Amino acid sequence: MSLLIKGGTVVTPTESFVADVYAENGIITAIGKDLKISADKTVDASGKLVLPGALDVHTHMAMPFGGTVSADSYLTGTRAAACGGVTTVFDYPVQRKGGTILGLVRSKMDVLEKEACVDYAFHCCITDLNGGEILDEMELAVKEGITSFKCFLVYKKEGMMVDDATLVKLMIRAKELGALINVHAENPDIIDMNIAKFLREGKTSAWYHYLSRPEFVEAEADKRAVHWAKNFDAPLYIVHMADKEGLEACIKAREEGASIYVETCPQYLEFTNEVYKRKDGRNFVCSPPMKGIESREALWAALKAGFIDTVATDHCPFQSYEKDWGKDDFTKIPNGCAGVENLYPYMLDAANAGKITFEKAVEVCAANPARIFGCETKGSIAIGKDADIVIYDKDKDFTVSAQNMHSNYDHTIWEGKKLHGYPVQTYLRGNLVYDNGDFVGKPGSGRFIKRIAKK
Ligand code: URP
Ligand code: ZN
Ligand code: ZN
Repeated sequence: MSLLIKGGTVVTPTESFVADVYAENGIITAIGKDLKISADKTVDASGKLVLPGALDVHTHMAMPFGGTVSADSYLTGTRAAACGGVTTVFDYPVQRKGGTILGLVRSKMDVLEKEACVDYAFHCCITDLNGGEILDEMELAVKEGITSFKCFLVYKKEGMMVDDATLVKLMIRAKELGALINVHAENPDIIDMNIAKFLREGKTSAWYHYLSRPEFVEAEADKRAVHWAKNFDAPLYIVHMADKEGLEACIKAREEGASIYVETCPQYLEFTNEVYKRKDGRNFVCSPPMKGIESREALWAALKAGFIDTVATDHCPFQSYEKDWGKDDFTKIPNGCAGVENLYPYMLDAANAGKITFEKAVEVCAANPARIFGCETKGSIAIGKDADIVIYDKDKDFTVSAQNMHSNYDHTIWEGKKLHGYPVQTYLRGNLVYDNGDFVGKPGSGRFIKRIAKK
């Protein structure tokens, strides 16, 4: 099966140029002006952008959390990904106490083999070293292509948190193996202290979700994680960065030579803590919460200046009736919001509006995530890469609504968001999976991406 995409503007992290792109058996084999090759399928992309498929390196599909399970199955979540131009998703399966990494991954793979509509990889959340066995098993996991692991510095009551010694042991071991540790940084003790105080005082609206975990609560944990990374000379990836002070600590550490990678999410670039004052504020409850306007502006500035490496979504939607559990008590709201289908359109809209360049959008949504997480065949339009390609119409207007998304949820924080420019087609390894509003792929066609450790 061969595919020829003719006359579009190919966008890479460093340049944009008009060219034809030819792929055979799912791999890009030629790029050039007016290629004289015949193909099984030829697509006219003149006037359109030809982009690498995005990698959403932060999603939670079918995740038991907050007294329920996140609303998207692997099928609906990866279907939505395809329709938003995301051709690889990273899931975060969570180790149960006593469980093994490979046991956990195999149980997820059994489902994904049947359901995945795009390619996939895993960062495993480690919650317990099992007396040290996990540190040994990490070597096997890395050989199997699982080269990143996550530590929650929060969710203590939920049994998901690791203490600092565990974090440091994991960082040192990951470094030995050429792997990477991702952290969710917030301070759990201060959050729990604040929550207890607000509940005692009868302060139960969604605003108190924000006030129980404000900027300095995230910043403390960001700084602590960076401190350990610097002093143990190990690389670190901070997920869903949302606050200015923590971000500045990361930038400073990087300037001093530490290997700190920073991810943020569209919700932190778009919204501020004001959303928690809304009547439907509970629908925006995620952790960390959206912060004040200074943090939002600092995130955009850092993104433009190259201090934010990746933009991913933390996709973890819940239905309205589940969010409603916390109508009168913010602690009962399942934490998480939708995003996987909105990531690339949102960042590309920002490029279309001149806020960032299209090259920057490609860098942070595709090239950087592929490079940082060892997906050698992903993340760019280049010879030898997978033909994961998005055709983007800069002139197409689109308004996001739960009704025109391809997930399994009944509301979205992105409702009513107007985008100028939208993907019109997505190809996964040369096969069309999204066509002008419709998912046209096949569940089960996504493949596990065996990643390469950095050595
Ligand atoms: O609120 C969020 N972010 N839910 C998903 C779990 C996590 O912390 O990433
Ligand atoms: Zn998190
Ligand atoms: Zn998350």
